[in-house]
Order: sequence, then C-alpha cells, then structure tokens
Amino acid sequence: MAMTADGKIATSTRSVHTFGSARDGANLHALRATADAILCGARTVEETGATMGNGGQRYGMARIRRGLREHPLRVVVSGSGTISPDAEIWRHRFSPILVLTTRRASRARLDGLRTLADGVWVSPGNTLDWAAALAWLRREHGVRRLVCEGGGEVNDALFRGGWVDELRLTLCPLVFGGRDAPGIAGGIGVEKIAEAARFELRGFRRVGDEFFLIYRRPRARRPGFH
Ligand SMILES: NC(=O)c1ccc[n+]([C@@H]2O[C@H](COP(=O)([O-])OP(=O)(O)OC[C@H]3O[C@@H](n4cnc5c(N)ncnc54)[C@H](OP(=O)(O)O)[C@@H]3O)[C@@H](O)[C@H]2O)c1
Repeated sequence: MAMTADGKIATSTRSVHTFGSARDGANLHALRATADAILCGARTVEETGATMGNGGQRYGMARIRRGLREHPLRVVVSGSGTISPDAEIWRHRFSPILVLTTRRASRARLDGLRTLADGVWVSPGNTLDWAAALAWLRREHGVRRLVCEGGGEVNDALFRGGWVDELRLTLCPLVFGGRDAPGIAGGIGVEKIAEAARFELRGFRRVGDEFFLIYRRPRARRPGFH
C-alpha cells in the first residue's frame, strides 16, 4: 500500500488514488511478480480501473523464471456482489478472474458474476469466511502466496483475522487530510490494543522523499484476536 504521511490511500473524493513515485510502481510490480494471485476489494477495482496485470514482459519473465504463471490470478472480494459489470478488469482476460462473495449477494447478482468471472466462491453466511476462502484458493487454484492490494476495507478484514504475514508500505511525502479519505485499514477496526495486528519492522529504505517499509508478523506469536 502507498500511503500519505497522514495514513491516507486516496483523497476524500477518491479522485486521487495513485500518488507514489515510479520507484513505488516498480516495487509493486516486483512484488506482484512473486505472487500466485493478487486480491483487491470491489471498490478498488471499480474506482482505480485496476486490471491487476503483471506489469509487463519483464515481470512476466521473472514470474516464469520463478515457476509461476506469466500472469497472476486475480481475485476480487465483493461480499454482496456489487462489483460493477462495467469495471475495467472485465475487459482484460489475460488470466482468470475469481470472485469471493457471500450469501448476501442476491441470486441475480450471483448469476451476473458467474457470467463475468472465471470462478465465483460463495461463502456461507453473511460475512466472508476467510479461512474457507483462502483454503478454496489454495486447493482449487494453487494459491500459496497472495498479495492483497487493498483497499482499506479488505485490508482491515485481513488484519483483524490475523491473515497478514507481511505488510509493505510506501510512505509518501504528502498529506491529504479529510475525514472521509480512506486509510490503509478502514472497515470495522479493533477496540483494544491487545486486538491490534502487530508487526516487526524487518526492512526499510529511503529513496528520495519516500520510505519503503517492510513489516512482518512476529514469528513466535499470532495476533491476539480472530
Ligand atoms: N494508495 C494505495 O496503495 C491504494 C491501494 C488500493 C486502493 N486504494 C484506494 O482505496 C479506496 C478503496 O478502498 P475501500 O476500503 O473503500 O474499498 P475496498 O476494500 O477496495 O472494497 C470494499 C468492497 O469490497 C468488498 N469487501 C471488502 N472487504 C470485504 C469482506 N471482508 N467481506 C466481504 N466483502 C468485502 C465489499 O464489496 P460489496 O460492496 O460488493 O459487498 C466492499 O464494499 C479507493 O479510493 C482506492 O483508490 C489505494
């Protein structure tokens, strides 16, 4: 995630969502080149026009050298199935697009998703069962390493569930402000410090005015909540 110095990942109107340097973009593509699949929330896919591609031939070759498919699988989370059929991603069919949804999605929405996506997984119940979703991705699609690229709502669910092994942040020298501007973790959040997802700083690099930070989950313990 690229974030401003005040922790925002887009402006409050959401008109600005890409603000990292070319170096930040290259880092993102290098990270994607290590993943079996990329995952994004429905609003990120719609609002950024993300196609979740491999970043070009150079990165595609790097993936093949690692024994990965040329293009990552693409996973969209849309619990009530509202992802727009007009989203840009549906026009780019270079790799399978999978949708994770729930029983909250109406029959009509599910039918629509099934015509658009290459695979639709419906979680039992109204909230997404991440353990079951990730198990499905691994079992049916061989996903062992998943890179989540936001937005804030998906991130929050993954942090709260203790599913994040590594957090990569680009700290950009900007301040957006705005109470409605999304941050790196929106959604429900936690109430107590004991429930917070905890990480150790494992690496950092300054390039120009940006910091590239790598946090990892401590090896000895899992976050104190599920
Ligand atoms: N700076 C960066 O690096 C960066 C990266 C990515 C995104 N962004 C920005 O972040 C903003 C989008 O973030 P956001 O938090 O508003 O939205 P988001 O997380 O991208 O998408 C939210 C939608 O995804 C589905 N969803 C998310 N978590 C879910 C869960 N646990 N279970 C079921 N469904 C879930 C829901 O879809 P349904 O409504 O269908 O249920 C929800 O409405 C955009 O402005 C984008 O530009 C910035």
